Amino acid sequence: MRKWYAVIGDPIEHSMSPLMHNAWMAEESRDASYIPIHVQPENLEQAVASLKLLGCSGWNITIPHKEKIIPYLDELDESARKMGAVNTVVRQPNGTYKGYNTDGLGFVRSLEDEIGDSHRDKQVLIIGAGGAARGIAFALVATGYRHITIANRTVSKAQAICDELDITAKAISLTEAAEQLSGFEILVQTTSAGLNHSAFALPIAMDRLSSTAIVADIVYNPLMTPFLIEAKKKGATVITGLGMFIHQGALAYSYWTDTYPKAKVVRHLLLEHLGGK
Ligand code: ATR
Repeated sequence: MRKWYAVIGDPIEHSMSPLMHNAWMAEESRDASYIPIHVQPENLEQAVASLKLLGCSGWNITIPHKEKIIPYLDELDESARKMGAVNTVVRQPNGTYKGYNTDGLGFVRSLEDEIGDSHRDKQVLIIGAGGAARGIAFALVATGYRHITIANRTVSKAQAICDELDITAKAISLTEAAEQLSGFEILVQTTSAGLNHSAFALPIAMDRLSSTAIVADIVYNPLMTPFLIEAKKKGATVITGLGMFIHQGALAYSYWTDTYPKAKVVRHLLLEHLGGK
């Protein structure tokens, strides 16, 4: 029987996941398809019941359902349990549904695609302490990164994440981060400040950024956020959020099919899509 997969969210029309997953499925000649489904918050429980009833093999979840879906799933993977959020659901061989979160590991795969795996002893600064920052911090530690500092507007939220990590990590303010910036070798921007195109959209002052720093943003639309533009001006190596988007999807795809798809098969398609908007 033809397998089908989906992404649910509200709104959903801008999601690039169908383009990406259908391209991978076509590349591997799989008898499968992936569709976007608009699910409003008040319909989430019924929507999940319908997906199960109709035999969906797995689906992705985007804003605003990543936390709210948890009670409707049968089981959670450790990644989703630690984050309290699910972005991927997988139908198990016994017909039950298990939730995963591939966002954090997706970021680490994207980072190491660009810089390799020989930088795990470097000083990492994560800017922001929301759900995305939490997933990335856990995944960095699980991968072997040992020196992590989290800077946030609300320092107590950064401290809460540090307290949950298996290593000793430091929580600091955005002002402290700006002052100490030259000491960080890998920076990860996770706040929503980059979504705002205004001149005030930088989460921290970048004057002290080292020209040898590796600077990543999780936002991919726009590809070059104000943060990355500023980092590039300082000579840093920049990594856009597109790689994280691709790898969170690739991990989901690998849980569904047991095959890790090639990032490069979809990168140009997604760049074309983003450029054409
Ligand atoms: P996500 O799940 O995408 O990580 P979130 O949980 O809403 O989103 O977290 C948003 C992050 O962006 C938080 O770290 C937030 O800081 P606070 O914890 O102090 O609220 C940060 N943020 C949002 N707008 C910001 C701004 N203009 N400047 C600095 N930080 C900002």
